[in-house]
Amino acid sequence: MALRTPQLVVALDFKTGSEALDLAGQLRWVTPKKHPRLWMKVGLELFVAEGPSIVRKLKRMGFRVFVDLKFLDIPNTVRGAVRSAVRSGADMLNIHACGGADMARVAVAARDEAATEMGLAAKPLLLAVTVLTSMMDPALPLLNGREPAAVVLELAQASRIAGLDGVVCSGQEAAGIKAACGQDFLCLTPGIRVPDPQAPADDQRRVMTPEAAVAAGSDFLVVGRPITRAPDPISAARDILQRMGRRMAKI
Ligand code: C5P
Repeated sequence: MALRTPQLVVALDFKTGSEALDLAGQLRWVTPKKHPRLWMKVGLELFVAEGPSIVRKLKRMGFRVFVDLKFLDIPNTVRGAVRSAVRSGADMLNIHACGGADMARVAVAARDEAATEMGLAAKPLLLAVTVLTSMMDPALPLLNGREPAAVVLELAQASRIAGLDGVVCSGQEAAGIKAACGQDFLCLTPGIRVPDPQAPADDQRRVMTPEAAVAAGSDFLVVGRPITRAPDPISAARDILQRMGRRMAKI
């Protein structure tokens, strides 16, 4: 499925549900209700603290929710985890691509079965994490002396063959992935930073601006700290959406 408009996903990396819901509440009206381009991402910290109820609460606020738990385990365990994530109401979920073809195929089948059992009109999107955007040292075991881009492309192609909807990748790899896997194969890009000499890249390494990520073909931009730790999160989210839109106008 190709997305006409790239979407912004806010990473709610908070210790408690109340902090996450407070920020989500502030961001609720940043995009018009009829054309929401804003998703919320529940990652490990928040999900471990709050469980699936946080997903349901965000859904009740009208957000689509990415449950970012990056499953990597034996196929049978991943099957159960995917089914539980779908049952929580996730609109998007993910596994690690380095878990291999069997694990990926089982995850796709589990997503399909759970979506059918729940009578969902649209199946939740299932993505694979390629190489984390905080990793760039070719000496890392996963890279085994190779450049991240080459490993990302290989993992993306394997994920497409296994039936996944797309991958998590750096913006720097999105254009190559689209060329190799097709425009419909989704690219979700974390590591987004606005050009501000005062703003830290934190632990991210392969970073990109919102404009450049959209130009490269990313369908979803994941932004955490530049919004959640901004003095004014609403303005920060609006600024990023405007930057995404400005770039799209030039394409
Ligand atoms: O705060 P920041 O914008 O760096 O947040 C990035 C978010 O994206 C975090 O929630 C992190 O877990 C997630 N992520 C990532 N790199 C990946 C996949 C997900 O940074 N490859």
